[in-house]
Amino acid sequence: MIRPFRSEVQRYDPKDGEYSKAGEYVYDHPFLWGSKRTGPDLHRTGGKYADSWHYRHMLTPGEVSTGSIMPAYPWLYEQQINKSITASMINAMRTIGVPYEAGYEDRANDDLEKQASRIAEGLQLEGLDTSSDAEIVALIAYLQRLGKDIKLEKVANNQ
Ligand code: HEM
Repeated sequence: MIRPFRSEVQRYDPKDGEYSKAGEYVYDHPFLWGSKRTGPDLHRTGGKYADSWHYRHMLTPGEVSTGSIMPAYPWLYEQQINKSITASMINAMRTIGVPYEAGYEDRANDDLEKQASRIAEGLQLEGLDTSSDAEIVALIAYLQRLGKDIKLEKVANNQ
């Protein structure tokens, strides 16, 4: 639900970008808009918290966010990222208009592994023993990306 409620407009510092805009959902198939939402808008959440915050939050939301009603997702710490389907997922996304460059499906797992190792090493430095193959690592990578394209665009335009 991306309507500009006052609380959502105020939620992020202006430097984090504005509330979500419809165009940012252009590659979502199907769209997951609804008329009710329980948790906050996560579209600018990239960079708002440390990777370790997300790690703890998805495991025990109330530990880092007092009184949270968000459910825990413990299986993300046990299940492994399925890298055997990366190429077919990229090909599928390309058919619905996501502009992956030609041949990227063959290199994507290299990028995935580099990014996952970086995140897992950072978590390990904070005492969180994580395999770079764990699904939570992929989710953290995703969450830390949200809102970043808009910010990069603004820097490019000197805004
Ligand atoms: C994979 C699924 C989910 C992810 C990745 C996720 C992620 C997050 C993140 C990153 C925040 C912090 C936002 C911020 O403070 O800027 C948050 C907050 C919240 N989420 Fe979730 N969430 C998920 C599922 C859910 C579900 C199913 C519910 C409700 C039934 C929920 C309810 C809430 C609520 C109430 C908050 C505010 C309190 C808090 O910080 O814990 N979330 N969620």
